[in-house]
Amino acid sequence: MKKIIFSLFLAIGSISAAQALEGDAAAGKTKAATCAACHGATGISAIPNYPNLAGQNSAYIIKQLTDFKAGTRSDPLMSPMAANLSEQDMADVAAYFSGIPRSGEVVAATGDAPAGAAPVAGNVEIVASTPASAIYKGDVSAGKTKAATCAACHGADGNSLVPMYPSLAGQSANYIAKQLHDFKSGDRNDPVMAGMVAALSEEDMHDLAAFFAVQAPKAGTGEGSDLGKKLYFSGDAAKGITACIACHGVNGKGMQQAGFPAIAGQSKDYLKKQLATFRDGSRANDNNGIMRNIAIKLSDADIEEVTQYMSSLK
Ligand code: HEC
Ligand code: HEC
Ligand code: HEC
Repeated sequence: MKKIIFSLFLAIGSISAAQALEGDAAAGKTKAATCAACHGATGISAIPNYPNLAGQNSAYIIKQLTDFKAGTRSDPLMSPMAANLSEQDMADVAAYFSGIPRSGEVVAATGDAPAGAAPVAGNVEIVASTPASAIYKGDVSAGKTKAATCAACHGADGNSLVPMYPSLAGQSANYIAKQLHDFKSGDRNDPVMAGMVAALSEEDMHDLAAFFAVQAPKAGTGEGSDLGKKLYFSGDAAKGITACIACHGVNGKGMQQAGFPAIAGQSKDYLKKQLATFRDGSRANDNNGIMRNIAIKLSDADIEEVTQYMSSLK
């Protein structure tokens, strides 16, 4: 069996024998914290659309992750997850998941979180925050000049002082550029921003995105909420709500390259408005309905608590 898989790899040419990396299951467990939001803390998923990974063959897991990253297998949820993994990360998470029994029982019995439960928190982010300037081709100093018109609302350094205006400092450049695009095309609707972007060229958008992405964000000052924290970290399996941590990160810093926005440092008012508009569909610029599908399952109370928590993220 090993031989067959091995020769398949050679045929595909994605991994050569010389490069095959030893996976470290313990390192993999730490790195799998973000995966747990969808695939369960013990690799047994609580949500029917998400596959179980516990007990899966390690070589198969590595091949799938390699394919998601290369784009030969594509999925709106998994592709950005895999994009952030190095070959070593893949080997490590594969070693971790393949070593868990299919039932997930042994892990539960050792006192870890039960199958499908919250990822064990911990300060883990798979994404090594790549400096935005390295990801994006925008020109930071040109962006600074162009940002003069934005300062009145978003702050000179991208830290807004007015709750209804979002902060842009430290935001994913890819996300900022996409939003500017969407405001201009009308895919995202806001009368104020529509006026601001009307005259912007593609190059302006990239420069502005680069400038704001490298500004230092201010920490959130909200009060926090235990209920909101639970929803943020664990989602709600009964209601089919994916944990926010999967895409917005443990500390709310988002995923730069995937264009999953940072939500730390935003005001509660702004966050509430965005969730309400994703829920009623008046904000519909999220690819594949990635946020609308989540927001539609949130109650008013869920939105209240989760935004209270998000506004406290540092
Ligand atoms: C936001 C939800 C989500 C997160 C987070 C997530 N995945 Fe996935 N994963 C999915 C979905 C959905 C699929 C099924 C894709 C499809 O239908 O092709 C999948 C499929 C996979 C597969 C292929 C399984 C198979 O049987 O073919 C692997 C391997 C995998 N994920 C590993 C990971 C790893 C490792 C992480 C963490 C770095 C992760 N996933 C994070 C949603 C997620
Ligand atoms: C008069 C106030 C005002 C000015 C000036 C302004 N904006 Fe905005 N901006 C807003 C408001 C209000 C929103 C939130 C819209 C909403 O609620 O959906 C916003 C949203 C955004 C967003 C989306 C942020 C997110 O987290 O999704 C970006 C990006 C943005 N503005 C960039 C800019 C840039 C770049 C400029 C300068 C060229 C600019 N804005 C000028 C008021 C302003
Ligand atoms: C599978 C990935 C994913 C998950 C899980 C997820 N989000 Fe998002 N979220 C996104 C993406 C992508 C966007 C940006 C969409 C766009 O405009 O392009 C977004 C945008 C947002 C925004 C607007 C940010 C801004 O600056 O305007 C808020 C607020 C938000 N999400 C809250 C949540 C909450 C609360 C949860 C958990 C209940 C959650 N998200 C779970 C992917 C995700």
